[in-house]
Amino acid sequence: MNARRFDGRTAVVTGAASGIGAAIAAALIAEGADVVGLDIDAAGLGKKAAELGDAFVPVVADVTAEDQIEAGIATAASRFGRLDAAFNVAGGSRIGAITDLAVEDWDFTVDLVQKSVFLCTKHEARLMRDSGNGGAIVNISSLDGRIPMPGGSAYATGKAGVVMFSKNAALELAPHRIRVNSVLPGLVDTPLVAAIMGYDPAKQMFLDRIPLGAAAAPEQVAGPCLFLASDDASYITGTELVVDGGWEVSNFPNLAKLAG
Ligand SMILES: NC(=O)c1ccc[n+]([C@@H]2O[C@H](COP(=O)([O-])OP(=O)(O)OC[C@H]3O[C@@H](n4cnc5c(N)ncnc54)[C@H](O)[C@@H]3O)[C@@H](O)[C@H]2O)c1
Repeated sequence: MNARRFDGRTAVVTGAASGIGAAIAAALIAEGADVVGLDIDAAGLGKKAAELGDAFVPVVADVTAEDQIEAGIATAASRFGRLDAAFNVAGGSRIGAITDLAVEDWDFTVDLVQKSVFLCTKHEARLMRDSGNGGAIVNISSLDGRIPMPGGSAYATGKAGVVMFSKNAALELAPHRIRVNSVLPGLVDTPLVAAIMGYDPAKQMFLDRIPLGAAAAPEQVAGPCLFLASDDASYITGTELVVDGGWEVSNFPNLAKLAG
């Protein structure tokens, strides 16, 4: 067991009201951190604050709006005077065929999954730099950043951009001892994919592609994210970690089924 790798440390988590972000916030607090949780969902944040107690500081903020991000990160500075780790998790999408997709829906998705990661990294890194203690940033991409999805051009493009942005940030921020990595989850059982998980034929089509045979629980993504932000990963920067139950490697036809 990894005891308390984040004792005395402060973290920012975006998308902290639900799913993967909420699991990261809970895991950080269990390992000793204070967490500033940003989300646009005030009611969801309120519920998490009641569950997680004083170590969780909720801040209602839209991660596509720079002034709101800046104010949220300033909360970490004023409450704790430092920032050691940041997890840029908030996301979502509007899907649609390229031939029909409205530019507003493209912008909504790319702004939410990609511009938000730039803006959050910008302000998180400033505070880490000014604190002088180094730091670690983990950006949530998606397996869709590598594998295209029908109707998901904006989401997949935005998520691929998160991987490259994280590499660029790793390069630029290394002189300040700030590490930056990305995580690419496959199917994770959260409200974001409730329509898939709640409809057996659709769920089965996904599970048929996942060698480990199940969607991830949010905690199974939170664990690798905490690893990348911890001192256990102190020499890891500019890389990406796929957390997908083997989905990415399962696309070769399984000819053994012919024999069965
Ligand atoms: N669930 C999956 O299968 C899966 C797979 C790969 C990647 N991801 C990514 O993981 C991340 C977390 O997704 P999740 O599955 O936990 O979904 P979720 O819907 O449970 O949580 C997303 C959170 O982001 C918040 N959010 C949305 N728009 C926001 C905004 N503009 N400003 C601030 N907060 C906002 C929501 O209120 C919500 O609390 C997303 O970036 C998503 O793209 C999810």
